[in-house]
Amino acid sequence: MKTLYSQKIFPVILDHVMQFDSLMAARKKLLTDVAGDVVEVGFGTGLNLPFYGEGVLSLTAVDPNPGMNRLAEPRIAQAKFPVMHRQLSAEKMPFETDSVDAVVSTWTLCSIPDVNAALAEMRRILKPTGSLYLVEHGLSPNRQLAKWQNRLTPVQKVVADGCHLNRDIKKIVEEAGFEWVQCEHFNAQKLPNIFSWMTLGHAKK
Ligand SMILES: C[S@@+](CC[C@H](N)C(=O)[O-])C[C@H]1O[C@@H](n2cnc3c(N)ncnc32)[C@H](O)[C@@H]1O
Repeated sequence: MKTLYSQKIFPVILDHVMQFDSLMAARKKLLTDVAGDVVEVGFGTGLNLPFYGEGVLSLTAVDPNPGMNRLAEPRIAQAKFPVMHRQLSAEKMPFETDSVDAVVSTWTLCSIPDVNAALAEMRRILKPTGSLYLVEHGLSPNRQLAKWQNRLTPVQKVVADGCHLNRDIKKIVEEAGFEWVQCEHFNAQKLPNIFSWMTLGHAKK
């Protein structure tokens, strides 16, 4: 039953929800300048592909859910650069140390079970000159809202396939050893308050 939901039903819901205007605008803002050999973790249904700029040489798409991969295939077929699709978890990636120019994560750090291990892996595979680009929802600075995010996370994890509402994205990225080059926050339009607090930016290895 869990597999049916997470691999067949949830990917279809997610593909719809993740195309809200405010989320698509954030993808565009984040991805235009990403360049070189890129690893995108939590590739989902491939909604970022049209937003990458001309500087991308190759993209390795990492996601453990085969249901997501199925929906991503038609978008991969339209990509302007080579896309290698790998059914993997970000906590352990079989890529060389210091080998990629950019790692991209869009609304994925919320869903990775061992997010600290995954961030350490992302940092390991980046070249010394490489950067992590991300846009993520997370723990609100509003204490009342944060209280609700903490209360509702156990339910959210069941409904949204492991998604946590209450991760402090800026802090966990810093704790993993990254150094922010640009980091901004905004409330995404037309989303429920518990999801709307966003962190967008990029951080050096
Ligand atoms: C909320 S979705 C976001 C999808 C996509 N990044 C987007 O922007 O539309 C979270 C994604 O993270 C993936 N995911 C969950 N656990 C993961 C893990 N351990 N490693 C990598 N990806 C994971 C899920 O399968 C899902 O595709």
